[in-house]
Amino acid sequence: MSILIRGGRVVTAADGYVADVLVEGERIALIGTDLDVAADRTIDAAGKYVLPGCIDPHTHLDMPFGGTVTVDDFESGQGSAACGGTTCHVDFCIQGQGQTFAQALEGWHAKANGKTLIDYGFHIAITDLADQERLDELATLPEQGITSYKLFMAYKGVLQVDDETLFRAMQVAAASGALVMVHAENGDAIDVLVREALSQGYTEPVWHARTRPPETEGEATNRAIQLARVAGCALYVVHVSCREAVEPIAIAREKGWDVWGETCTQYFFVDYSFLERPNFEGAKYVYTPPPRPKENQDVLWAAVKNDVLSAISTDHCAFLWDGQKTLGRDDFSKIPNGGPGLENRLHMIHEFGVRQGRISLNRMVELLATNPAKLFGLYPRKGTVAVGSDADLVVFDPEKKLTLSASTHHSKADYNLFEGTEVTGTPEIVIRRGEILVENGELVARPGSGRFIPRARVGEELKPGVAVG
Ligand code: URP
Ligand code: ZN
Ligand code: ZN
Repeated sequence: MSILIRGGRVVTAADGYVADVLVEGERIALIGTDLDVAADRTIDAAGKYVLPGCIDPHTHLDMPFGGTVTVDDFESGQGSAACGGTTCHVDFCIQGQGQTFAQALEGWHAKANGKTLIDYGFHIAITDLADQERLDELATLPEQGITSYKLFMAYKGVLQVDDETLFRAMQVAAASGALVMVHAENGDAIDVLVREALSQGYTEPVWHARTRPPETEGEATNRAIQLARVAGCALYVVHVSCREAVEPIAIAREKGWDVWGETCTQYFFVDYSFLERPNFEGAKYVYTPPPRPKENQDVLWAAVKNDVLSAISTDHCAFLWDGQKTLGRDDFSKIPNGGPGLENRLHMIHEFGVRQGRISLNRMVELLATNPAKLFGLYPRKGTVAVGSDADLVVFDPEKKLTLSASTHHSKADYNLFEGTEVTGTPEIVIRRGEILVENGELVARPGSGRFIPRARVGEELKPGVAVG
């Protein structure tokens, strides 16, 4: 199958120019002006942008958490992603207590099998590094294309690891070429604050934020940065939400340390006051770190503009409000932590980042596609529009208007974090490895057609044309 995309404005992290793009099979075969070639399908992209498929480096599909399981499985989650212009994501494979990494990965591959629409990789979420055998196994993961792992410095008694585990994982990462990701919050201090609040009878959703002050995020971020320096590994701080965490990352990057950070779409738009909404509606915004006071939003926009933060993810971890979030109606600490968002990252960042003049179109592509590809071992096979790269492309209509809503999104979540927001600009056609997944905004993808992508080690390239499977 070949596709000729005619006359669109090709936008990469570095360039923007009008050209034709020829897709042959799974790859981009040719880029040029007025290409004199025939194709099975021609798409007129005049007036549209041709963007690389976006990559979401942080999702939680079909994940047991908070006494329940996230509502989007690989089919609904990836369908939602595709409709929003995301053609590849890296999901968190959680190691259960006592499990080997091989067992955890087997479980996550089984969840994905037969359901996938877009391409995907896995990070390992390490919960248990009990002995030398597990450390040795960790060192072998890059050989299977698992080149990043997350450690939780919070969620005490559930996912939290101690500093010894964190530091040992960092040492293995340094030796084996993996990227360490941290959920940076001081879980011990938070646990004390949560118990104090509950003992005083404070049960409403807003106490989720009141018991996780920004300083607990700042302290853990700085601790992880300093430990990573001692271990000599590369560090990526996930879901940065506030000034207290941005500042140590800014210092680290200014000094040239191997430290990176991401924020997530919701932190630009949802603030602390959302948690105070009446009738338990605040529970929709219970995710971790929590929505912060509004002044942090300008700090985050500046950080993504100045490359203090280098990627924007969704941390899509969707639960139903009615039936799952309500598990915590009488106790905020029992509200499953997480929110939906996989479908609306490009919509929101294009509207409020690019159209409102906060970041350039090139920087948007860099934050949503190119940097995630580079940081997580997918570049240049993915994350750009180039000859030889996978034909993961978004034909984006910058003039089409859309109102974001749970009534039209493709996630199974029964609410949308950005309900009622009007945006101008939406994906019209989404292509993954040469296959059309979304046409006129409608999902037409075949379940089972997405592929697991073994990723390259930190600093290494994933060559286009290398076999996957
Ligand atoms: O609330 C959140 N973020 N849930 C997902 C798990 C995590 O910490 O990323
Ligand atoms: Zn986290
Ligand atoms: Zn997460």
